[in-house]
Amino acid sequence: MYKIFFNLVFKRMDPEAAHYMAFRWIRLAARTPVLRTFVAAALAPRYEELRTEALGLRMHGPFGLAAGFDKNAVAIDGMSMLGFDHIEIGTVTAEAQPGNPKKRLFRLVPDRALINRMGFNNEGSAAVADRLAARQAVFRTVVGVNIGKTKVVPEEEAVGDYVTSTERLARHADYLVVNVSSPNTPGLRNLQATESLRPLLTAVREAADRVVTDRRVPLLVKIAPDLADEDVDAVADLALELGLDGIIATNTTIARDGLGLKSSPSLVKETGGLSGAPVKERSLEVLRRLYARVGDRLVLVGVGGIENAEDAWQRILAGATLIQGYSAFIYEGPCYARAIHKGLAARLAASPYATLADAVGAETRKAAQ
Ligand SMILES: Cc1cc2nc3c(=O)[nH]c(=O)nc-3n(C[C@H](O)[C@H](O)[C@H](O)COP(=O)(O)O)c2cc1C
Repeated sequence: MYKIFFNLVFKRMDPEAAHYMAFRWIRLAARTPVLRTFVAAALAPRYEELRTEALGLRMHGPFGLAAGFDKNAVAIDGMSMLGFDHIEIGTVTAEAQPGNPKKRLFRLVPDRALINRMGFNNEGSAAVADRLAARQAVFRTVVGVNIGKTKVVPEEEAVGDYVTSTERLARHADYLVVNVSSPNTPGLRNLQATESLRPLLTAVREAADRVVTDRRVPLLVKIAPDLADEDVDAVADLALELGLDGIIATNTTIARDGLGLKSSPSLVKETGGLSGAPVKERSLEVLRRLYARVGDRLVLVGVGGIENAEDAWQRILAGATLIQGYSAFIYEGPCYARAIHKGLAARLAASPYATLADAVGAETRKAAQ
């Protein structure tokens, strides 16, 4: 049904315009009590066996919405209504910014992929903090806050920029993510190098502890799939050294070669981050590598090319406690999160594992024996 609608309507529209149209419908439905109750009952069923505890938080299930979809925290209840069990808002930057000129979002339909060079278009951390402070939650949902660097701020001043956002947003965050992996802010990914990342993460940790004194806000870092293996290891070691809570693997890729892309060369050539099916293999590889290095000492969040329950299950077996998706939501539609949780419950029941937590990393541990 959704696929027919997608082909007839969304596919003919500019991808960004389609995004905002769908977004408006979701928000409208979430504001209409009868509709919202009906949709949530249909799309956000709860599976007792998928209850997940991670980052000191309780969730109904492990699957959530990746950053970038709800940049300004305007649709938390709407996305929760659709069955995403945690919502990562952002990326939010210290200053409001318009992002890159349009067109900046491209659909690679035959590849079940997207290319985006949005460039952190967002209302800025002050406005988003005000919105989160005023929010009257309808659904109990874990809200992650993903922060990044304001484009006009030079790389040498990045720490101060992230600290400003942390000071404004940490108290509203169930968990906080330092995003150093989007390819669309010049220089951002250089912050993944440990000599830059160490002072950045240390300063964000200190700022979060300074402004939030009644609890410890979990802190994660989000990395790119394009990091070399030894750099993945270096980030993992640094995360352990600094007492981080987790790593999100991965963001979009700048790679195009060797991915066997079927879409037209002119589309494939668009600059920006590629997401969806083509990033699946590398994201999984990075996750396995991270789990082999850190085991249960960090919460690993698997994201990148998760299209269905089998993909999600493979991430759990590889070492992810939480999983996220974005691109496949565009192609699969409103039943995407529901299908993943439902399929995960079925896979867990058919597996030798008593709980989802037992399944986390099981395949990676087996491979290491
Ligand atoms: C249009 C678009 C915008 C995105 N914006 C952000 C962002 O602002 N911050 C971020 O950390 N990741 C962002 N991402 C990356 C996603 O969160 C995710 O890491 C990536 O797309 C891989 O997952 P997927 O294959 O399920 O899409 C964006 C992705 C897309 C497609």
